[in-house]
Amino acid sequence: CPDRSFSGRSFLITAGPTWEFIDPVRFISNPSSGKMGVELARAAWYRGGDVTLVCGPGVSVDVPGVRFIPVISAEDMLLRCMENRDVDVIIKAAAVGDYRVATPSSSKIKREGRERLTLELFSNPDIAARLGEEKGESQILIGFAAETNNLDENAVKKMNAKGLDAIVANDVTEEGCGFGVDTNRVVMLDRSGGRFEFSGSKEDVSHMILDRVAVMMEGAK
Ligand code: PMT
Repeated sequence: CPDRSFSGRSFLITAGPTWEFIDPVRFISNPSSGKMGVELARAAWYRGGDVTLVCGPGVSVDVPGVRFIPVISAEDMLLRCMENRDVDVIIKAAAVGDYRVATPSSSKIKREGRERLTLELFSNPDIAARLGEEKGESQILIGFAAETNNLDENAVKKMNAKGLDAIVANDVTEEGCGFGVDTNRVVMLDRSGGRFEFSGSKEDVSHMILDRVAVMMEGAK
């Protein structure tokens, strides 16, 4: 008998990269494949959850029961997350671009006669922090942290700064971890000082993260 313990519970999950256009044919992005967020969405749906997945470009989503909202830029993702934030659990696995081009060109920037091109970048809104500011009383808000060093320390700082209930940190320089691969090794830290290490396929890691979410839900009752 399948586990349907998230029946009646709603989830907003984000996945994938964002694209910040320089001109119509070039953009700034990152190596996120969306696999981590898609597996989280699949796992939450499989366990009976009502799942909305806000997903950056280039991500393949093959979970029929999940409501899929495609977006391109960080500003699009912010808008769609704010519209869909009235849920029990939010998990932010997307790799959101921290900067956008100040004035994207409406036509292709020509290379001829140009040895150097300088781009001015503006800081993007922090979606997790905005969701943290408006968090409902019993809502659970979980972020991810993509780190290259001092995993726990940097992740705890992000959890506190963004008003998150828990954060899932991965060292993206480790083999079999983070961007693009089918596996991950993470540390999940929560506000009550809990620290849990999970590793395996992104599907397995997603279920382990959701097991902790289930415990947090019990505590929030
Ligand atoms: O997609 P995959 O290829 O499967 O790779 C998975 C992953 C490496 C992308 C994933 O495991 C991961 O670490 N996701 C978070 C990546 C990230 O942007 O981390 P960060 O430390 O820069 O941001 C911290 C948190 O703030 C994240 O929850 C992020 O979604 C959020 N954020 C960041 C910037 C911003 N402007 N708005 C945000 O909401």
